[in-house]
Amino acid sequence: MVRFKQSIETCSRLLKRTFEVLHDEGAKSLWFKMLGEIVYRRLILVERPLDETLPQIAIPLPLTISLLSETEVKEYADYRPDVNIIEIKNRLKSGHLCFVVRLKGGIVNTGWAATNRVSIDYLSREFQLKDGDVYVYDVFTMPEHRGNSLSIFRMTHMLRYFRDLGYKRFVGTILIENKPAVRNALKADYHASGIIGHVKIFSLKWNFQREIRNSTFLKKIYGL
Ligand SMILES: CC(C)(COP(=O)(O)OP(=O)(O)OC[C@H]1O[C@@H](n2cnc3c(N)ncnc32)[C@H](O)[C@@H]1OP(=O)(O)O)[C@@H](O)C(=O)NCCC(=O)NCCS
Repeated sequence: MVRFKQSIETCSRLLKRTFEVLHDEGAKSLWFKMLGEIVYRRLILVERPLDETLPQIAIPLPLTISLLSETEVKEYADYRPDVNIIEIKNRLKSGHLCFVVRLKGGIVNTGWAATNRVSIDYLSREFQLKDGDVYVYDVFTMPEHRGNSLSIFRMTHMLRYFRDLGYKRFVGTILIENKPAVRNALKADYHASGIIGHVKIFSLKWNFQREIRNSTFLKKIYGL
């Protein structure tokens, strides 16, 4: 009975996500996401040196920003019910930092940063970061607050935070079909540095990675 209930919940989550992707990102994006589930996955590698000028965006909202503490994990899980609470605790235990943007006390935007070993769950791969690198991942804005540059607000704070600690570069990964994330990266002055992915057929898996030297690659994806 419990298993049956879990299967129903899984199916309804999957359906809900399918409709969300279809609604937010369109049929093309849905198709690539489905393809990604079967055989082919790739992400754009992006980077942004920390010695460049910080983004200059004024946001007319009373926003505050702080680091997620262990006592706030439950609140984070309420804001992100799609994320496993044990995973969040493990991230904090591993020394990853979560920058939390609040509006009138409620969480509206978050982003994680790691400076040592990172795992890219989507590709089931782990990487050791170079000295001076910060990996920014799992950035999220509450759907009703998207398009208000909240991510840039947080990113500017993170850039300053890590630059002042002596770090040299932000790195990250983006799904090519995720237009808001590509736009967001451009607004924070990231550029593409490579493509990373795999081709998987049953249990056989070929990893690939190639460099991108074209500084306008991100802009060209959507003709921006
Ligand atoms: C990607 C994401 C974090 C961007 O956050 P944000 O705070 O909305 O960022 P911005 O306000 O700078 O908007 C970025 C782009 O999103 C798009 N956008 C604008 N309004 C939007 C809305 N209501 N809903 C969705 N996307 C919107 C626009 O293309 C915008 O770029 P523009 O301002 O140049 O037009 C957010 O869309 C999100 O949480 N997405 C789901 C999680 C995700 O995909 N994370 C990225 C993993 S790499």
